[in-house]
Amino acid sequence: MAVRAGIIGFGYMGQYHMKKSRQADDIEVVAAYDISADRLAEARAEGLRTYDSLDAFLGDDTIRLVMICTPNNVHAALSIAALNSGKHVMCEKPVTMNAAELEQVLTAAQRNHRVFTTHQNRRWNPDYLTVKDVVSSGIIGRPTTVISRVYGQRGVCFGWRADPLAGGGMLYDWGIHLIDQYLRMFPDQRVTSVYARLQSILTPAVDDSFDLEMVFDSDVCARVQVGTFCLEPLPRWFVYGDRGTLRVDDFTGRSAAMARIRQEVSGFDSVFGKQLGPSRTMAPLKPEFIETLTPPVFTEDELAYHRNLAAACEGREDALVTHEDMRRAMRVVDLAFESTRQRQVIKTSI
Ligand SMILES: NC(=O)c1ccc[n+]([C@@H]2O[C@H](COP(=O)([O-])OP(=O)(O)OC[C@H]3O[C@@H](n4cnc5c(N)ncnc54)[C@H](O)[C@@H]3O)[C@@H](O)[C@H]2O)c1
Repeated sequence: MAVRAGIIGFGYMGQYHMKKSRQADDIEVVAAYDISADRLAEARAEGLRTYDSLDAFLGDDTIRLVMICTPNNVHAALSIAALNSGKHVMCEKPVTMNAAELEQVLTAAQRNHRVFTTHQNRRWNPDYLTVKDVVSSGIIGRPTTVISRVYGQRGVCFGWRADPLAGGGMLYDWGIHLIDQYLRMFPDQRVTSVYARLQSILTPAVDDSFDLEMVFDSDVCARVQVGTFCLEPLPRWFVYGDRGTLRVDDFTGRSAAMARIRQEVSGFDSVFGKQLGPSRTMAPLKPEFIETLTPPVFTEDELAYHRNLAAACEGREDALVTHEDMRRAMRVVDLAFESTRQRQVIKTSI
């Protein structure tokens, strides 16, 4: 029997989870609670029971799993209330506003012996899987710098995303996904330093653009660049290895290119004596010294997350997004804000 679920916040992501749950078949969304009457009307049109009171919603004994899809500032309070009422909880990302709030939620989950996890769906994105595969295979050598970029063109953040009190801004919105991806790309390494520069370029009061750098144990620099206003395309990913280079253009992962230097070539020596580029150091290699490789292509398993969530609620599997995963990502977020305030690199061990 499917796990019965109720959704708090029947906006864009609330409706997304209803649709994914229907496709996965393992979760049956039966109810919704929202502070907006219009959203409740939309939920009723989908055949859901609706509540305009949180207590009444949490008192519905048919609901075993609560999916929290509200703006970010109320994630922690709603998660704790749902866990204390005996429900399993999936809370949208960012799971909370900071690591201290998260600890309170995790304590409630442990005390009530309930599943608590967050939605890190971008772990299944094909572009990310390509980069993760290439990095872990060593095919382009040891990764030295990886750049992960997401840019849009609309400029100003809209709705609650422009409101700092609601948890707006792009670090919470996109940063948390991209940080989580890196923490899984280098699974056995700790983050040794964090540097961030958050900026409000077109949206006052929240970061609509940021640069973040995490350095891991192996000295690989994992860079994140996000912004709402960029009119020229940049590749989604760029990976520098010490034997080759990978470029992934977009979220499909299908537009990508990879090359490595042939085994027998020892780099700069091979062009010595000829000024082929802006300088000898920056001269291109002869094409025959470079091996063009085909980056692996992945297809997204779009229901993997919801299937695992259902299995976790039934005690058949552990939730794939663990408490430790959430802790590490939120600690990086905390340090990104701190680094911006201090304008400094912050040494750490996360
Ligand atoms: N995982 C992803 O890919 C992804 C993508 C987009 C958004 N999100 C996350 O999902 C959450 C919701 O984002 P969205 O784009 O769906 O926002 P949205 O504005 O479309 O929907 C939010 C809903 O929450 C309701 N709401 C607000 N405060 C509430 C409260 N206190 N109690 C109950 N309902 C309340 C609003 O009325 C609205 O219906 C955010 O945390 C966001 O970061 C995740």
